[in-house]
Amino acid sequence: MATFDKRFDQKVAIVTGAGSGIGKAAAERLLAEGASVLALDIDDAGLSALPLDQPTFKSTLCDVSNASECIARVNDALDQFGRLDIVINSAGITARSLGDNAGFEEKWDTVIRVNLKGTMLMCHAAVPVLQRMGGGAIVNLASVMGLVGYDPSLPLSDGFSPYPPSKGGVLQVTRDLGARLAKENIRVNAVCPGFAYTNLTQNLADSPETHQALIKMHPMGRLGQPEEIANVILFLASDEASFVTGAAWTVDGGYTAA
Ligand SMILES: NC(=O)c1ccc[n+]([C@@H]2O[C@H](COP(=O)([O-])OP(=O)(O)OC[C@H]3O[C@@H](n4cnc5c(N)ncnc54)[C@H](O)[C@@H]3O)[C@@H](O)[C@H]2O)c1
Repeated sequence: MATFDKRFDQKVAIVTGAGSGIGKAAAERLLAEGASVLALDIDDAGLSALPLDQPTFKSTLCDVSNASECIARVNDALDQFGRLDIVINSAGITARSLGDNAGFEEKWDTVIRVNLKGTMLMCHAAVPVLQRMGGGAIVNLASVMGLVGYDPSLPLSDGFSPYPPSKGGVLQVTRDLGARLAKENIRVNAVCPGFAYTNLTQNLADSPETHQALIKMHPMGRLGQPEEIANVILFLASDEASFVTGAAWTVDGGYTAA
């Protein structure tokens, strides 16, 4: 097992969507590298499964699509750890096809509300605090689907999905805030993962036909692991990325290069 320096000693991080997948991997790596971490999710069972038996790792329920909950959780981080330096916005959901039956508008609204508005709300709650702290780093989970559309050969979509637009919006929040906050020493970046094995993609990986089609779309010939996405998230959150802001980092095994 790789060992890591304590790159994040004395740093305090909030990670949304930390109960599962990429957020969980990022939260655990931040902790391992010295950060104090407040893990947030709507899934109590996911949070309870985290190794919370240490004073620098706390968890609280939080729906990122609720503005007052985001503000309250940012205040919790300050109360519990005395400062805030890093925000990882990993909470996300998907709907790969809206269908044309009743309820398609609600599906659209829900995905946009969680992925796009939720990312903005947590940034909105955290930025004034980061400004008071004199700087910080925000990393937003976008997707390759913020850069390209679903490949038509995939048996995924009827052509109407809120997921790519939600992630395109996350990229624009990232660029806009990255540019506006650059002089205040607050860096805002996004990662654009290809398909990785998490709960979000479980149903795709469970279908042998879809799984093989997805594998073929990644020139590396495989899907990613959450830890491989977390590696890049941590780089962007770290001082090593001191000249990186407003950027969209693909972590996709070559998906968007092919
Ligand atoms: N897995 C992939 O292939 C992939 C690819 C590209 C981008 N992403 C993005 O990465 C992020 C993490 O996804 P993942 O693959 O780890 O999925 P996941 O389902 O394993 O984890 C997402 C977490 O977000 C939580 N969540 C959902 N709605 C929430 C809300 N309103 N408030 C707070 N938490 C909420 C869920 O409970 C879950 O624990 C998402 O934004 C996703 O869109 C994932």
